[in-house]
Amino acid sequence: MLATQQTPQYSVMDQFVESICYRAPENRTQWYPPLMRSAESLGKRAISADAAEDALAVLRKLEPDDYSEYLSAYYAEGIRRFGANWRYADIVTVLLALAVDLKPKSYLEIGVRRGRSVCTVASKAPACDIYMFDMWVANYAGMENPGESLVSSELDKVSHTGKRVFTNGNSHSTLKTFFRQNSDLAFDMITVDGDHTRNGAIEDLCDVLPRLKIGGAVVFDDICHPKHRYLEDVWKELVVNDNRFTSWSCADIGYGVGFALRKW
Ligand SMILES: C[S@@+](CC[C@H](N)C(=O)[O-])C[C@H]1O[C@@H](n2cnc3c(N)ncnc32)[C@H](O)[C@@H]1O
Repeated sequence: MLATQQTPQYSVMDQFVESICYRAPENRTQWYPPLMRSAESLGKRAISADAAEDALAVLRKLEPDDYSEYLSAYYAEGIRRFGANWRYADIVTVLLALAVDLKPKSYLEIGVRRGRSVCTVASKAPACDIYMFDMWVANYAGMENPGESLVSSELDKVSHTGKRVFTNGNSHSTLKTFFRQNSDLAFDMITVDGDHTRNGAIEDLCDVLPRLKIGGAVVFDDICHPKHRYLEDVWKELVVNDNRFTSWSCADIGYGVGFALRKW
């Protein structure tokens, strides 16, 4: 039984991520759900040594902060000590792996901060349209969080050419307004990494999940962060236990991350 009263209100989705879906020709029976890849198969790439190398390369292009400097040293040391046996994943290695196979044309992110995760997607899909939702909490995690201008200059560094749509403010009101005004928009990839309170994360997931295309990926960060231990339960309740998704997670080391692909 769900511990939360709030659940996503899905309706029929008629938009697909064509790169990982198979759709029967017109007048032929669509026997299987269209999704052709399991989350596990994409998760393998996310924990590969190549993904950690790629993650390091993305961070090296961006404006450093205390956290990214720590992560760069962590990646370099993990690769040096453990090589292909490391099997580490985080939001960056997951987004890299997903962007390679999904070839996203549209990406929505709640919780952008200094642009690390949007730049990760853009580094593999430079023409992708990116929809960014953040209230730019001052001094977030003890680091400057200046907003649009920094994120835009970071996106330039990874040669992003797609549309950039910034929606500034509290996601619990901005998302509802945005979706009311854009009733046909659905996304190839969505990341939920904004409000880390239990109820806030539930509300964000409920707002965005119905707008994920068939074959699309939702990414949820920090599922084993020591300060937000309940997030793993939220993820399981709303996504992992819902059979419309195939899901994968790494909740052993680091702060943990999960992703899921929508089957119907
Ligand atoms: C964990 S950081 C995002 C990190 C980013 N995804 C990355 O990988 O580098 C969380 C961000 O969410 C924003 N945030 C927190 N609560 C929010 C809310 N209710 N609405 C919009 N943004 C919020 C903060 O301003 C912060 O920039």
